[in-house]
Amino acid sequence: MRIKLLLVFSAALAMLQFAWVGNVFSHGDVQPQGVDTEGLQTLPEEFASENPYRLAGGEQYKLAQEIGASGYNQNCARCHGLEAISGGIAPDLRMLEDGEFGDEWYIERVRKGYSQNGAYKMPPFDLILSQEAMWAIRSYTETRPRE
Ligand code: HEC
Repeated sequence: MRIKLLLVFSAALAMLQFAWVGNVFSHGDVQPQGVDTEGLQTLPEEFASENPYRLAGGEQYKLAQEIGASGYNQNCARCHGLEAISGGIAPDLRMLEDGEFGDEWYIERVRKGYSQNGAYKMPPFDLILSQEAMWAIRSYTETRPRE
């Protein structure tokens, strides 16, 4: 009788522990989400290879940075760090190259994500974010001071 009770007890404990671990993993795990890009110039279907909002400059670039800041916080900060300052588990996006060189690398990675041994280390954002949102986020990270 005692043993049976003990077994039930330890099974319950294991389940609790399991639930707790699950909780830890999901804590702060913000679901990726689309970004409202109202006010930004809409872009042609074919992807640009250079940040169109930086090229447009002025108000468009400023608005893109603002929209990009919240898009970044919702979708990228949990891996790439708050305010685009890397917390260590993913590269610091302020360190990407400036200009078209950096843009091309950036857009490819964001669209396709990154997988290793069949597991995604970074999800592909092609189905989550619009092109406008992706370039808005680039506008934000590329204007964050490098220190
Ligand atoms: C689940 C974690 C995770 C999320 C969320 C995530 N990334 Fe990443 N990202 C990574 C990792 C890990 C790498 C490194 C891959 C590698 O080794 O090349 C990476 C690499 C990159 C790179 C290439 C950086 C370089 O120096 O080569 C870019 C650009 C990038 N991410 C942009 C983004 C953007 C923009 C978002 C949000 C829309 C985002 N990532 C969301 C984990 C993540």
